[in-house]
Amino acid sequence: MTITATNRKWLSESRYGLFIHFGLYSVAARHEWVQTLEEVSIKEYKKYFEQFNPDLLDAKKWAKKAKDAGFKYVIITAKHHEGFCLWDSKETPYKVTNTPYKRDLLGELIQAFREEGLKIGIYYSLLDWHHPDFLVDGYHPMRNNSEYKAIHKGNMENYRAFMSAQVKELLTNYGLIDYMWFDFSYKSRDWGTSIGKGADDWGSVELEKMIYSIQPNIFINDRLGLNRGVQTPEQFARSKGMENEEDIWETVQTLNNSWGYDRDNLTFKSSEMVAKQLVDTVSKGGNFTMNIGPNARGIWDDNSDEILAKVGEWLGRHGDSIYGATRSSYPAPLDCRYTQKGNKLFLHIFSWPYRTILLPALGGKVSFARLLNDGSEIRFTDTKNLGGDRKATTNLYKEITEVHIKEALDSTMLMLNVPIHEPNELISVIELTLKEDDKWG
Ligand code: GLC
Repeated sequence: MTITATNRKWLSESRYGLFIHFGLYSVAARHEWVQTLEEVSIKEYKKYFEQFNPDLLDAKKWAKKAKDAGFKYVIITAKHHEGFCLWDSKETPYKVTNTPYKRDLLGELIQAFREEGLKIGIYYSLLDWHHPDFLVDGYHPMRNNSEYKAIHKGNMENYRAFMSAQVKELLTNYGLIDYMWFDFSYKSRDWGTSIGKGADDWGSVELEKMIYSIQPNIFINDRLGLNRGVQTPEQFARSKGMENEEDIWETVQTLNNSWGYDRDNLTFKSSEMVAKQLVDTVSKGGNFTMNIGPNARGIWDDNSDEILAKVGEWLGRHGDSIYGATRSSYPAPLDCRYTQKGNKLFLHIFSWPYRTILLPALGGKVSFARLLNDGSEIRFTDTKNLGGDRKATTNLYKEITEVHIKEALDSTMLMLNVPIHEPNELISVIELTLKEDDKWG
């Protein structure tokens, strides 16, 4: 049965996605790699399985928060490296329906987010530290446990069949899935006693084929080790857009450098930093996916809540410069970023200037300019009208110094006249309407 999405433009138009890391590691509350970082045995780690019961989790509340925060799609960790499944998988007993929570949490979340209109992404870990056939390597929690390794010598053929069956479950039982997000290939790793895993270990070519046979228009990220798919740099952004503008890239980032809930880690980004990362990413034609790690009761921590709500509030007034927008061919002034959508060019001002901003190459090309926060007009003049015979300048610019005029003599620029006081916004944005005959976008 194939489930076909209608529109493949949704991902690059969304620009802002939510990553949710939730699993047994949320109970340990010390980062999602806690099991391997502390070399917790599979037997000992079971205590989190027995404890797993996010009793205060309200899927509809999560979805509403995400919608209000301005996210257009969500990527949910159906299974992380620990091997615990948030759905009722028929392939393993290590699943949410066998915990005190009992219910198919992934199904509840997908339904709730879909009802709020968000596109659905599923994160699926290629590593599975719980599965008996997964070959132990240098990342595995049991890497130094000779007893375990003597019994579990690894059977990757069985493991590939297991993974394929699970991915098939995920793509068959929960309706239209818009984005399949795998993590991760590490073929180049070599620990001496073991080596990394890549496309051949996962059976990535066959897996990809099977995925498209069920959901032909689904997006797949680039971590199957096939050097294709949505490029997903993590915790950093590209320095510039993709060579081919049609290629989609998505930087995935955390709020405090931990994907899973990390109780004592309070090194959160500010809302302003998140907004600037979002704008910078879109100015390079990319998507920005921000992560949260809900806690063991199923609640988003206060810091994450506050940061995402503030960015969402900013998007309420400035979303037009983000959603459906992309990079511009115009060179942005210092400390600014451009995003563009058709004949609308958005100037994101990262540091507020004194009175004027010079926009290279925009002389004579703009018909109107306004601040997005309140819609107020920003007056401007083409620099070709400045300098030389001072009479030519209007009263508006009478204080402009000779130096400024000399600098502004480059007649290809546009000079914006901005208020002394910056608007009270995470980032102030000026929307420029390009004259119809000049849509470089
Ligand atoms: C890294 C982390 C992993 C996380 C992923 C998200 O691979 O190790 O835990 O899920 O980033 O991109």
